[in-house]
Amino acid sequence: MTTTVTLIPGDGVGPELARATRRLVAAAGADVVFEEVTAGRKAFEATGDPVPADVIAAIKRNRTALKGLIGTPVGYGYESPNVRLRKELDLFAAVRPVRVQPGLRGRYDDVDCVVIRESTEDVYSGIEHQVVPGVVQSIKVTTRAACERIIRFAFEFAVSHGRKKLTLVHKANIMKQSDGLFLRCGKEIAPEYPQIAFEALIADNASMQLVRDPSRYDVIVAMNLFGDLLADLGAGLVGGVSNVWGSLRGESDVVVYEAVSAGDDALVGQGIANPLPLLRPAVAMLRHIGETAAADRIDGAIARALADGVRTKDVGGQVTTEGMIDALIERLG
Ligand code: IPM
Ligand code: MN
Repeated sequence: MTTTVTLIPGDGVGPELARATRRLVAAAGADVVFEEVTAGRKAFEATGDPVPADVIAAIKRNRTALKGLIGTPVGYGYESPNVRLRKELDLFAAVRPVRVQPGLRGRYDDVDCVVIRESTEDVYSGIEHQVVPGVVQSIKVTTRAACERIIRFAFEFAVSHGRKKLTLVHKANIMKQSDGLFLRCGKEIAPEYPQIAFEALIADNASMQLVRDPSRYDVIVAMNLFGDLLADLGAGLVGGVSNVWGSLRGESDVVVYEAVSAGDDALVGQGIANPLPLLRPAVAMLRHIGETAAADRIDGAIARALADGVRTKDVGGQVTTEGMIDALIERLG
């Protein structure tokens, strides 16, 4: 049965990576049709809205989406379209595996944890104002409802994935109200899951421990900002953005698979960007829709190509984006 998946290429090198990904997915024999929609700068220029209603409608209709990184004006301008999309679809859980992948070595050989990040609140509320010139406030929003559902999500994830431990990361020594609430919710809910060991770590210490000995972690649950930082910290330990991806989940069956790196804007139009940051979430998406054989073939091809030294420039190689796809197609087996 053919599955239709919404594809949001994103900004920057996104369209180049989307084209490359489509070619590889087709070559791997996946029975997928991509419905492409535009969000980000081009949508903003055309419609005045970086996340037009048709993007949300297409995701809701197809239930599964693949999204490149959508750029955000830094220090001014509209709210991040990535954040808008998470909030509008109420995709409150960002699941980001941090795992050593065959081929591209990271700093550790023994890392397999999952960062589960709350994705609708915290300092991502977008509520900011100037009190008087030179004094501004950015409001961190934390609700009990959001704390409880992300913590329950994390425990349920741990149980259904055979995980043993959940680490809740907070800064409740400083943010006694917001992070205090998050920590309290964790302690309240933990007894419902006696089979999962529960611990709470303060964010700075948690970061040091992650760099020193990532193998001590299993599942990590954090609010939006710390989750963002921990996921990228983890990515850096396992070979960078070539090796990680994210999925966004909520209470419905809508799942958005996303690239977690913006890519390098300087590379736009040169055809030399690394396709792996979009190929990783694409493979996870294929597994989700039941295209397991195609996903296995692509994973195998990536491992073999990397082992053969086929790499784009950003990871020390020579091949172009499409050259990498050619090399992967040759190795699909
Ligand atoms: C991510 C990104 C986004 C975030 C940016 C682009 C808004 O860093 O998906 O991790 O901070 O969530
Ligand atoms: Mn991030």
